[in-house]
Amino acid sequence: MAENKPSSIEELVLILDFGAQYTQLIARRVRECSVYCEIAPFDTPVSEIVARAPKGIILSGGPSSVYEDGAPRCDSAIYDCGVPILGICYGTQLMAFQLGGKVTPGNQKEFGRTDLEVVDDSGLFAGLDRNLVCWMSHGDLVETPPPGFTITARTTSTPVATMENRSRKLFGVQFHPEVVHTPWGAQVLRNFLYRECGLKGLWTAASFIDSAVSEIRKQVGDGRVVCGVSGGVDSACVAALIHKAIGDQLTCIFVNHGLLRLNEADQVRETFEDHFKIKLVYVDAEERFLARLKGITDPERKRKIIGEEFVRVFEEHASAIEGARFLGQGTLYPDVIESGTKNAAVIKSHHNVGGLPEDMNLEVVEPVRWLFKDEVRKVAAELGLPEDMVWRQPFPGPGLAIRIVGEVTKERLETLRRADDIVVQEIKRAGLYRELWMGFAILAPIRSVGVMGDQRTYADTIVVRAITSRDAMTADWARLPYEVLERISNRVINEVPGVNRVVYDISSKPPATMEWE
Ligand code: XMP
Repeated sequence: MAENKPSSIEELVLILDFGAQYTQLIARRVRECSVYCEIAPFDTPVSEIVARAPKGIILSGGPSSVYEDGAPRCDSAIYDCGVPILGICYGTQLMAFQLGGKVTPGNQKEFGRTDLEVVDDSGLFAGLDRNLVCWMSHGDLVETPPPGFTITARTTSTPVATMENRSRKLFGVQFHPEVVHTPWGAQVLRNFLYRECGLKGLWTAASFIDSAVSEIRKQVGDGRVVCGVSGGVDSACVAALIHKAIGDQLTCIFVNHGLLRLNEADQVRETFEDHFKIKLVYVDAEERFLARLKGITDPERKRKIIGEEFVRVFEEHASAIEGARFLGQGTLYPDVIESGTKNAAVIKSHHNVGGLPEDMNLEVVEPVRWLFKDEVRKVAAELGLPEDMVWRQPFPGPGLAIRIVGEVTKERLETLRRADDIVVQEIKRAGLYRELWMGFAILAPIRSVGVMGDQRTYADTIVVRAITSRDAMTADWARLPYEVLERISNRVINEVPGVNRVVYDISSKPPATMEWE
């Protein structure tokens, strides 16, 4: 895979990962300060670190104790390389331990909200109150800082809640500045980045676009790139970036599997063909997909069939593009960080439609592989993608097929599409769209009795599902106002033929999943 790292990063911060569940969060907070950062393994050799010329280093937290056999340790030469370093939690304990301080197993473990008393507000605490509430989560603690360090804050049970050696620009905080429960934590990170590392915050959507464009040109030269687009923000952003870099050397392929939402295919075509003037191969493959899905009710079978068929259709059209050597892909930074470390049980085979057909022999171009989702949205907006696309909620690759419980037919798709459109419209009208991870409709395999006018009905049930989530791993059902639910219910029953009942799904994840299949 091409290592198309943004080479023109002027202000790089490296985060050495000691296995904390919060490492990604640290990276996001740093990026929110307009500073580019990357996560690297804790044992990255110092020579490699120095070669990347970071302007600052952060040692993350982690679940270990410095005294454990095999506890992760960075090379202690790192403290002498002249780059400012901030330790967080385990990172602080390790810094203290490696530099001759005293670390002891915590007699009194600290977990959760803790009062913090600042004793020196000239460094990391500049501009903050002297009495603060922070978020702690640790077992071991630093009892005595290493020679040359001073204590800058303490709590009742942690004498060295924060420490620093100003002349060597080494800092350690025992609390977690990256979590929302430490509301002023961002200021501590800003102080470290701006005051101590001397950064200006040059990482913006515009600067990213400039650097991505030059990287794409360097990688692709005069080659041709194929890029699958789905209507989602990631693939749209990738296509727009590549197009900005190489214009007509890019051809996008949009496979409409017939499982998209109302008017979605038209919007995608308008955006790419009319607005961006990108060469777009539009493939109407609805009949093909529906034929293969006929009679299929098992969710995993549906996913498999859709995945296989998608690759087949995509390949047919990609191989017809003369001289194509590259494939544009919307891989994001969390996928990069997590790949290889994921060993969770397969709950659902999340086939990402648009994924790389393995034997296509194309080199991938992944210009957003260093971005988090919120950054992709910023870049997409800066590139001029329509707001609707920039803020589009996640949508599963297999589309409406896994929101129709039971067999997928043209008629059932039509019913779901109309109901789903009403759900989304009403959520948008209430100003709640961006707050939700997803808000959508499901067609349940249930018919029930109703009465409309003087007629008995026996018709379909629409389930409304609206959820909040930060990371898709867990989710809660959204407390939509009753008035919104009422409008959705009235409109769906009145406007969608064949539906006489609307129910609201009040299950969280776990134990339920977001989708019904
Ligand atoms: P679940 O249902 O697993 O969904 O709680 C979590 C997130 O993943 C999306 N999802 C999929 N995305 N292919 C995809 O590309 C799939 O097969 C698939 N299944 C679920 C889902 O929409 C939600 O955002």
